[in-house]
Amino acid sequence: MNEKKLVGEKAIDYIKDGMVVGLGTGSTVFYTIYKLGELVQNGLSIKGIPTSKQTEKLANEVGIPLVSFNEVEQIDVAIDGADEVDPDLNLIKGGGGALLREKIIANAANTFIVVADPDKNVTKLGAFPLPVEVLPFGIEFTNKKLIELGLKPHLRQVQGNQFQTDNGNYIFDCRLPVITNLKELERELNLIPGVIENGLFLGMTDIYITLDRDKDNSIVVRHRKNV
Ligand code: 5RP
Repeated sequence: MNEKKLVGEKAIDYIKDGMVVGLGTGSTVFYTIYKLGELVQNGLSIKGIPTSKQTEKLANEVGIPLVSFNEVEQIDVAIDGADEVDPDLNLIKGGGGALLREKIIANAANTFIVVADPDKNVTKLGAFPLPVEVLPFGIEFTNKKLIELGLKPHLRQVQGNQFQTDNGNYIFDCRLPVITNLKELERELNLIPGVIENGLFLGMTDIYITLDRDKDNSIVVRHRKNV
């Protein structure tokens, strides 16, 4: 059974004709985008805003019409994956390196839907290293500042080269201290001048789609408490 496909395709239930849809990045939302492409071929009229070059390519391949973020009045729904999801639907994102655009689109969307297989569910965020996107300029200074916050930053590499985001920046994958006040950490990260954005998505998820392995992998849809 393909768990990512099950949760990814379930998100389609929330898409209606005429919507502007934020398209996340990764192997789970891949199935949402692929299915959306099929529906578009069958007459669904939507416009997509991709969160990465990878997603832009996929959306073009499956035939989803794209629109520039600056041209739309609003984003109705954004759908994306996650690297970790806690019981309050707080997330760590950015494993694929697209956290900056993902966060902007999630923030702008009227409804932010997260799709993830049960392996992503944790009681506490932080086993997955927190991605922090930083400006290449002054990277050693930024590294020092991250260490001062108690983090253990590791500059992301791909095949021996520094990983570069779609925005031309670098990523530090940061081990968190065992006891961490996430709100406070987010605030402190945002105070470091060289930090562009971090992968903490706190209080942003409106709808979470996952599976319950104890119940034959039935789909579980959770809503933000005040929705
Ligand atoms: C990319 C992300 C992805 O949503 C996250 O890494 C989950 O990916 P996948 O669905 O492949 O497990 O944040 O920046």
